Amino acid sequence: MKIMKVKNYDEMSDAAFQVMKEVVSENPNAVLGLATGSTPIGLYERMVKDYQEHHTNYAKCQSFNLDEYIGLAQGHEQSYFTFMQKHLFKHINMPKEHIHIPYGNSEVDCQAYEKALDQVQVDIQVLGIGSNGHIGFNEPNTPFTKETHIVNLMKKTRQDNARFFENDIDQVPKQAITMGIASIMKAKKIVLLASGEHKADAIATMVYGTKDPICPATVLQDHDDVIVIVDEAAASKL
Ligand code: F6R
Repeated sequence: MKIMKVKNYDEMSDAAFQVMKEVVSENPNAVLGLATGSTPIGLYERMVKDYQEHHTNYAKCQSFNLDEYIGLAQGHEQSYFTFMQKHLFKHINMPKEHIHIPYGNSEVDCQAYEKALDQVQVDIQVLGIGSNGHIGFNEPNTPFTKETHIVNLMKKTRQDNARFFENDIDQVPKQAITMGIASIMKAKKIVLLASGEHKADAIATMVYGTKDPICPATVLQDHDDVIVIVDEAAASKL
């Protein structure tokens, strides 16, 4: 696990963009594993700016998102589908049919997503981290062997995400569909981003803790190409 400490959110986003740009420039057919949430927004802004200025070509790229809420229509303003359109997809030339975002609430939906993932290898997987150590929506105590599955979101995660739902936890969906930890670990390269003091404990546990499903991100200790890009606050317990 390579740790890159940077000053702040902007520097974290710059560094993440450099890694992404290298992957996409070297391989026009790159498969991008993408995350939502506050953390990767700066990365997506830089990808959009770069696309506008340098016409980086995404025509042959594909993308696979980590997760989606259950119970929100795709067009809901807080769905991850809407998030990705708004922050990235409507601004770049990745064809619609190359974009994959899990959707649905059944085992069949999970298997269909996993089957699509099985057709490719993700070249670069972008991850954020939950303050409880989750990656994707794999909450603490999720077995490392899980593929795409349905999860019950923990109260802590729903509280953390209530800021997107008028600070009202009751509006935050209780379930999500997520790529599993086994699915995430198949990526060739993983870039985990974290910014802010509220991530410091999770980052310290991920780096120094025993590999254990109680902190899902500790599984990354076993992956041979992980770059962790953390700002000073998120790195404050390293
Ligand atoms: C989002 C995802 C989550 C987030 C994590 C951090 O697709 O999979 O694991 O990365 O909850 O969220 P933020 O970035 O909002 O702090």
